[in-house]
Formats: sequence, structure tokens, C-alpha cells
Amino acid sequence: MRVTGIDVRVVTPHQRFLWTYTRAQADVVADSLALRREFPQELTYLGSGAELWRAATAVQSALLRASDLLLSDHAAELADLARPGPVDVLDLGPGTGSAAEGLLAGLIAAGRFGGYRAVDISPEMLTLAGARLTAAFPARAARLAFTVGDFRDAGPHAARIVLLAGGTLFNLADPGALLRDLAATRNPGDLVVITTRLDTTGRAPFPPSQPAPALPPIHRLGLDLLNLDPGWYEPERGFDPARREVWSGARLNRPITLHLDGAHGRRVVALHTGDLLLLYRQLFLDRAAVTALIEGSGLRLRTFHTGRSGEVAMFVADTRD
Ligand SMILES: C[S@@+](CC[C@H](N)C(=O)[O-])C[C@H]1O[C@@H](n2cnc3c(N)ncnc32)[C@H](O)[C@@H]1O
Repeated sequence: MRVTGIDVRVVTPHQRFLWTYTRAQADVVADSLALRREFPQELTYLGSGAELWRAATAVQSALLRASDLLLSDHAAELADLARPGPVDVLDLGPGTGSAAEGLLAGLIAAGRFGGYRAVDISPEMLTLAGARLTAAFPARAARLAFTVGDFRDAGPHAARIVLLAGGTLFNLADPGALLRDLAATRNPGDLVVITTRLDTTGRAPFPPSQPAPALPPIHRLGLDLLNLDPGWYEPERGFDPARREVWSGARLNRPITLHLDGAHGRRVVALHTGDLLLLYRQLFLDRAAVTALIEGSGLRLRTFHTGRSGEVAMFVADTRD
């Protein structure tokens, strides 16, 4: 790190950034920061981010538990809704595999399990999911597959059940784009299963607080990997009522110039005092808004269930014939 005459911090990433990301991913980080002042949230699950997520979800909150139980509670119904024959499941963003576990157990119990494939951008997360699901279903290990990739551009997602569990869909800046892709590449009758937290009150999910609480470690990970000293920013969080989106970020209190080595050489990103770096986003929609998003993407809502907590729900959609 170098300090210039006007106190601009010139920063190169931490060694762990270089171990965690490819040069192409360093370009994604540079582009996202330069164009949108956003650290790509999906990249925070790589490297030590996987363990941070596992640890954060290991002591399951009532909401997380209720979200996972939605899939085991309704596995037999999902098997009935799916086209006849063995049901293959494609899990987009499996995390630790906790959501898929109940669904697979239910499909096995119903004699309908065909196979399971997880696609995740984080190799480390896939290792966790693989260990969990292989231990849970050792006799089916040969029919469990784990593929590293970005599910937004991984091509056609064909499976009798495509699973987007635990709110993963609503971390995306444009969830409709993924749903439209799924609608376009589905075989008639194949299901898209979404579980998420729901807005049941029409209010923000937390009261406004000043100052904002400290950033959770997984939200902060990108800044730590970039080598940004916590003294150079203040945490912020908020709720965007127009988008119905929860967000957290870091407000810079000094100018910073980042030097990142991308696939085609050095990238220089100039950040300014007062810039808000977005670190996390999650849409917080009510039932009507999720339904409208699904239907507006060319999918048809087949069934809806709230969970054992009324704040989580499962939406099951298929392709119109
Ligand atoms: C919220 S977490 C896990 C959610 C998990 N389905 C559950 O219910 O616990 C999101 C997961 O999706 C993965 N992910 C996020 N965006 C992705 C993308 N664009 N392509 C592939 N994986 C992605 C992350 O690496 C992480 O494993």
C-alpha cells in the first residue's frame, strides 16, 4: 500500500485474493466496482467464504430450518407434480446442500429419485455440499454430481426439478432474467422450485438504525480480500422500498485506487470519498410480487406453500405448453 500526496490509498489485493480468484474473476471484480460500485456477491462464497457461510448457517435459525423443511415436507407432492419417471434434480446454488437433502430423501422414499446435479460458482461450497449429500446418501453417491459454474450462463438447465432454494434467486440483481432463461429452456411439465423468505407485513424487515451494525464477515469478505482497511469505510445497510430490496454496503471515507491484475493486465479502479460499495442485496417480496415475477417470466405457477414459519414459502412453477 502506498500513500500519495492527496492521501489516496493505492491498494493491491491481499494474497488471499490471488489464491481465491482467477484473473478472469479479478476482471469481474474490477468491472463491477468500476461500473456499479458493487463487489460481486456471488464471489463472496468462494475460498474462505464457503466456510463463513457454513458457520453462519450451522446454527440454523427458525427461518432457515423452516425453509429447508418446505422441501422435505412437500417432496412427495413435487414428485407427483413432476413428469412421470425418475426425477432428476438440478440444484442452482446449493450452498451446503442442506435444502436439497430433504428433497432427495423424500424422492428416494417415494421411489422417484433419478439423479442430482449441483451447479455452484464456488468449488469450496460444492465440496461442502458433496460431503454432506454423499454422507447422507452413500448408496446413491454415483448419481450425485457437482459442477463448478455460473448458473446465469451455464446454458440450458434441463431437469425435471430445477431448485433455487434459500433465497438464492433473490440475491440476483435481475432474477427475472434467470427465470426467463429457465422458461425458455424447460421441457413442458418440468418444474422450477423456489424457496424464499417472504414479506408478510409490507414493512422493511428491520427497523432503521443509526449507526448501522457491523458488517457480517461474509458481507465484508470482498473488502478484506481487496485489502481495504476497516478504518477506511463505515458500514451501511438499508431497504430500498422501490425495489423492495435489503442491501448492505461500505461508505468510503477516503479515496482509494485499486490495482487488480486481470486476464489482460493491470486494472486500475479509482474509488472516491463518499462512494457506497454495495456488498449484499436480497429482494424482500410478498407473495403477489413473487407470483408476478414468475408469471411475467413465461412460467406458470402450479402451487404455493407457506412453511412452518409463515415467513418462508415455496413457489412451484412449470412451463406453459
Ligand atoms: C444463499 S447461498 C445458498 C443457498 C442454498 N440454496 C440454501 O438453500 O441454503 C447461495 C449459493 O448460490 C451460489 N451462487 C450464487 N450466485 C451464483 C451464480 N451466479 N452461479 C452459481 N452459483 C451461485 C453461492 O456460491 C452459494 O452456494
